[in-house]
Amino acid sequence: MSKVKDIRLAAQGALKVDWAESHMPVLMEIRKQFTAKKPLRGVTVGFALHVTKETAVLVRTLVAGGARVAIAGCNPLSTQDDVAAALAKEGVDVYAWRGQSAKEYYENLNKVLDHKPQITIDDGGDLVFTIHKHRRELLSVVKGGCEETTTGVIRLRAMEKDNALEYAVIATNDADTKHMFDNHYGTGQSTLDGILRSTNILFSGKTVVVAGYGWCGKGIAMRSQGMGANVIVCEVDPVKALQAAMDGYRVMPMDSASSIGDIFITATGDIDIICERHIRKMKDGAVLANSGHFNVEIVVPDLEKLSAGKKVMRDNVVMYTLKGGKRIYLLAEGRLVNLAAAEGHPSEVMDMSFADQALSCAYINKNKLAPGVYPVPVEIDSLVAKMKLATMGIRIDSLTARQKEYLSGWEEGT
Ligand code: ADE
Repeated sequence: MSKVKDIRLAAQGALKVDWAESHMPVLMEIRKQFTAKKPLRGVTVGFALHVTKETAVLVRTLVAGGARVAIAGCNPLSTQDDVAAALAKEGVDVYAWRGQSAKEYYENLNKVLDHKPQITIDDGGDLVFTIHKHRRELLSVVKGGCEETTTGVIRLRAMEKDNALEYAVIATNDADTKHMFDNHYGTGQSTLDGILRSTNILFSGKTVVVAGYGWCGKGIAMRSQGMGANVIVCEVDPVKALQAAMDGYRVMPMDSASSIGDIFITATGDIDIICERHIRKMKDGAVLANSGHFNVEIVVPDLEKLSAGKKVMRDNVVMYTLKGGKRIYLLAEGRLVNLAAAEGHPSEVMDMSFADQALSCAYINKNKLAPGVYPVPVEIDSLVAKMKLATMGIRIDSLTARQKEYLSGWEEGT
C-alpha cells in the first residue's frame, strides 16, 4: 500500500514520465529486451532513489523485466509528488513525498525493506546501511545491490574496508558512462537550473565559487563560466587543483574566496565546507547552494547562529539576516539544489546512468557474487556507450586487424 502526497496528481505525473521516456532511448531499448526476456522475473527490487520522472522510467523498465518494485526517496526534498503518484497508480509500492521529516524518511526506507527485496538500488547508501545496521534479518534474502552516487560508493568502500559489507554491491557511479556524463554534464546543468529557477539571478559577471573539482564540480565550473561568470575553484587535492588552474579558473582556499564570491556552490561530498568563519567574511547578498548528496557541506546551524532573523523570499530561497544586517541567501535548505529546486539531471543523461543500473541489476540476478564492491562490468559500460551513440546517430571508426596487432605488440618502435 503506497504512501504519497496526493494520488490525484497521477495523470500529471504520468505525462512527465512519458516525456522522460521519449528522451531516454537507450533505457527504452533495454525495456524492449527486458519485456521479451524477463531477466528479473519474480525478483523484488527495493529502491531508495530520487523519485523523479527519470527514476520512474527505470522502475517501469525493471517491472517490464519481471520485477516487483518498492521505492522510497533518497532525500527528503527531491521527490516529485506527481511522479510518485503516477507510479503508485501503476501498482508500484511507493513511499515518498516531498518534505518528509528525518523520521518519516527512515520509516519509508523501512517500508521498502518490509517487501524483503532481493536487490537494492541506492543513491547515497541508506538502504544498504539500514539493512546492515537495523534489518539484519534481510541479509540472508538480499542477493546484491547497485549504488548510484559517489557519496554512496565512498560509504560502501568504507564498509568494505571495515569488513562490514555483507553483500555484493555494484558501484554504478563508477561506470564511465555514468560519472563522465551524469556527474559532469548532468550536475553542471541541473545545478545551475536549480539556482536559476529559485533565484532567476544573472550569472554573467558574477563571481561563482565552486567547492570541489571532482566530476560534479568540473561540470558546475564549466557551465558557470559558459554563462559569463568568473569562476573560483576551491579544492584540497593538489592534482585536481592544478587541473582547475590549467582549465583557466582562479584557485584559492575557501578562506580567501569567501569574501570575493557572489554565488557559492558546494560539490565536495564532505562536511564543513562553508562554515561560520566563511559566512562572516561574505558579501551582503551572497547566495549559497549545495549540490553534494547530503546537507552537510554548508553548515546551516552556523548560519542560524549568526543570524538575527530569516525570511522565506521565494520558493527554495531563505534570506538570513545576520546580526550586523548582512543578508545571505540559502537555497533549498542546503540540500541538493538540482533536485530540490529543479528536476535533477535531464533525461538524456540519466538515460545512460539508468541503463547501467538496469543492466547491472540483471547481472546481479544472474551471477552469484561474494560480498564486496564491484565495478560495472566493462561489457555493460561499453554497450551503453554504443547504444547511446547509435541513438544519437553517431558512427565511429573501428580498429583494423593491423591496428589491433600494432597495439598489442611491443617490438615496433621508431
Ligand atoms: N540524480 C540526479 N538527477 C536525477 C534524476 N533526474 N533522477 C534521479 N536521480 C537523479
